[in-house]
Amino acid sequence: MDKNPSNSIKILVTAGPTREPIDPVRYISNLSSGMMGYEIATECEKRGFDVCLISGPVEISPPKGVDTIYVTTASEMRDKVNEQIESSGCIIMTAAVCDFRPDKIKEQKIKEDESLTLKLVKNPDILKGIENNKDLVKVGFALETENAVENAKKKIKEKFLDLIVLNEKTESNEPFGPGEKRARILDNKGNIKEFNKVTKPELARVLIDEIEGLL
Ligand code: CTP
Repeated sequence: MDKNPSNSIKILVTAGPTREPIDPVRYISNLSSGMMGYEIATECEKRGFDVCLISGPVEISPPKGVDTIYVTTASEMRDKVNEQIESSGCIIMTAAVCDFRPDKIKEQKIKEDESLTLKLVKNPDILKGIENNKDLVKVGFALETENAVENAKKKIKEKFLDLIVLNEKTESNEPFGPGEKRARILDNKGNIKEFNKVTKPELARVLIDEIEGLL
């Protein structure tokens, strides 16, 4: 059933972690499972949108019927996003992009020593780097451990977002993996919607409801 009147719009979704190599057998990454982005891509597909999912390395299966492109590093993700963005009406960046990468990838395995110092350099900010235009809806995700609302509002401004989904990692709320979570959706006008016990599929549905109102 085609529920969506604006179904010719392409939604670009990023998901999962990025992985930044140190040497041929080691990398820097994070705990992202990719589940949130995969649920969003699934929901968009169900509603009749054209969906492109750009995914970092994850252990879950690609959503049925969704064009999925796999990447490893933040730079690769940036390049694929830039290739797809022109033909998209909305980007939803759930990916946990590594902010830093080792400045040089060692060609050979680093051997054991007393200590090791790695120099890290800043990765591109993919969302911030996307040129704003009035026909593109930009949605970010924020993972915070302190000053959550303040930091999320700052990200809306700095990355020129329409919406941001705020997840907090606290003693009582584990944002990684399955189960019920606390989440908030903030818009660029200062409105905040709270969801106290929401699963990732439920959050995907309410988020896409919000986005449909903006498209
Ligand atoms: N993001 C991005 N490129 C980066 C880092 C983050 O596009 N290099 C996107 C994420 O996909 C997310 C949003 O920006 O949608 C916020 O990501 P988050 O990691 O919470 O924040 P950062 O901007 O990296 O700030 P900090 O790590 O200092 O909290």
